[in-house]
Amino acid sequence: MKILLVGSGGREHALAWALAKSPLLSRLYAAPGNAGIAEFAEIVPIAATDFEGLKNFAVTAGIDFAVIAADAQLVGGLWDVLEGAGIRALGPSKAAAVLEGSKGFVKDLCMEKGIPTAAYQRFREPGAAKSYAASLGFPVVIKADGLAAGKGVIIANSESESDKAIDFMFEGGFGDSGHEIVVEEFMAGEEASFFALSDGVNVIPLAGAQDHKRVGDGDTGPNTGGMGAYSPAPMLTPALERIAMEQFIKPTVAAFAERGLAYMGVLYLGLMITKAGPKLVEYNCRFGDPEAQVLLPRLKSDLLAALLAARGGTLDKISLQWTDEVALTVVMASGGYPGSYEKGNVISGLEEAASLPGITVFHAGTEKRDGKIVAVGGRVLDITATGKDVAQARTRAYAAVDRISWKDCFWRTDIGWRALAR
Ligand code: AMP
Ligand code: GLY
Repeated sequence: MKILLVGSGGREHALAWALAKSPLLSRLYAAPGNAGIAEFAEIVPIAATDFEGLKNFAVTAGIDFAVIAADAQLVGGLWDVLEGAGIRALGPSKAAAVLEGSKGFVKDLCMEKGIPTAAYQRFREPGAAKSYAASLGFPVVIKADGLAAGKGVIIANSESESDKAIDFMFEGGFGDSGHEIVVEEFMAGEEASFFALSDGVNVIPLAGAQDHKRVGDGDTGPNTGGMGAYSPAPMLTPALERIAMEQFIKPTVAAFAERGLAYMGVLYLGLMITKAGPKLVEYNCRFGDPEAQVLLPRLKSDLLAALLAARGGTLDKISLQWTDEVALTVVMASGGYPGSYEKGNVISGLEEAASLPGITVFHAGTEKRDGKIVAVGGRVLDITATGKDVAQARTRAYAAVDRISWKDCFWRTDIGWRALAR
């Protein structure tokens, strides 16, 4: 089969790496890809935002199946554009991507189905939102309803912070995504993510992971897309994984079906493990980045077959095998990230790092220029190690990180600390 992978980050490199192992694959194309993905795929120089260009390429090249990796494309309706032209693709559809595209919709769905989550209300004007926030007490959580490039959540520690956050969103601070907001109760606890795959009716579990969203060691500094992750997450016990499937994922897919929306694709469940049990933080409609970089190295089964089954309504025939090993990834980033950073610095040590035991280097923001790999993103590389436990995977990952360098690169030195502290 000819497969088109849409995207260019570390998650997409991990997807390309896993898809390339499939016996079903004849040719893999990636648009626009990166220097690491180019090892597994033919690079197609079409931006992930150019839906018409992607559709035209897919039709001309005779693509059998497209894997759309990112929220912006799914929520923006690339699935619908491709399917409209007869190209099968991993969803969800634009209508079903409301799972990630509207926080208020998901909260209402939780209420309807009795899915545990923080108390909340939806607002379209600031006055009532401010009073409700004050009534909940502080800290309180203010969320733009729509996608905001991962920045749409503000945790306000006082009434003045909360009022400021509410005004900021209604004044367009997050663009259109803040025309409606959700104000919700703050949940204390430890976060973990759980992934599942749905074909609209059948749902199968993938695996759990824990991310490190803050830029600095000890979970300090501004939020990022994620500075490292590991899978499995020791806190997601088998009992909790069952709860994630039975009390969260399955009722959610069922609620979509009742609305006439077949949810076909990945469900990424963000959970807060509170003293009162697990509660939903949010859903995403795709693999996480960098969570995919630790899930996919543990998957022994054919990823492509599973993704095809999610589109084809045959997930009940799929049972996935996972290694017992732990995978851990350390994100190496450009100095300044998540703010502005330099582009074009040459990266050294990649081959030496990749030759170490248990190491796979996924590229996130790289390009090949004059035969050299250069850093062109904020998050640049995901140094991924497998090992018999978190401690071994972490030692291996950092040994590889130490071999790699470019001007002003940095990374967190404590990936996996929660798991090791247990
Ligand atoms: P994002 O991934 O940008 O949507 O960020 C959401 C993050 O905000 C989550 O990962 C949590 O750390 C935090 N968060 C969201 N909702 C709550 C809540 N109700 N209580 C505590 N933390 C929350
Ligand atoms: N690592 C967080 C995300 O993919 O949204």
